[in-house]
Amino acid sequence: MSIPKHVAIIMDGNGRWAKARRLPRLAGHQAGAKAVERTLKAAQEAGISFLTLYAFSTENWTRPQEEINGLMQLLEQTLDRYGEDAAKNNFRLWISGAREPLPQAILGKIDKVVAATAHHTGLTLNLALNYGARQEIIHAANAALNAGEKFLTADILRRYLYHPDLPDPELIIRTSGEERLSNFLLWQAAYSEFYFTPVLWPDFTEKEFQAALTAYAARTRRFGGV
Ligand code: FPP
Repeated sequence: MSIPKHVAIIMDGNGRWAKARRLPRLAGHQAGAKAVERTLKAAQEAGISFLTLYAFSTENWTRPQEEINGLMQLLEQTLDRYGEDAAKNNFRLWISGAREPLPQAILGKIDKVVAATAHHTGLTLNLALNYGARQEIIHAANAALNAGEKFLTADILRRYLYHPDLPDPELIIRTSGEERLSNFLLWQAAYSEFYFTPVLWPDFTEKEFQAALTAYAARTRRFGGV
């Protein structure tokens, strides 16, 4: 079976999962954090090298402050746990996104875990945090200009993306039945295969992940050729 090197996931449906249970939205995000752990394990077992998870978009700041605070708290807890797990599992943490206006507490924890895991050779978890794909491309173009580049090519622009060494995702998964990219990895998704599932993110299991990999393996990728 052909296994993608990089899988990226738009984790959607936490709110609807909570609503169906008459629970606050935050309960959906908490259940979503458990799905993150399951998926991380499943990805590692499947031999995936890079897993990008859309944890917080640049548009998510428009949510109620209470929900934002809850999400930030969850992230902090996850970073703490991830710091411990990463040592055991040889995981590496990368972040894609803008630092401003993330809270200092989060940035401090991120820096710590990123530095502590930089030399790890196992799966790379790339958290898309305060991430927007248009922002990433604009940031890259400006960084290229500042560095004195006179003429941009795809190869040159790529060098200024958040992670030039992140391979393009062969597979992008979105849960909850929505079928759009929502400002996620616009540059990197040029040739990605898409897998949409009606399953809400908190219900996403190892089996669902494997089903996505099986669907991917059955596709023929031609990259514009024949
Ligand atoms: C989308 O569901 C999910 C998010 C905006 C946040 C993703 C966060 C998590 C999975 C939990 C924590 C993550 C980490 C990495 C610890 P939604 O709220 O848009 O759901 P809805 O469309 O049903 O309202």
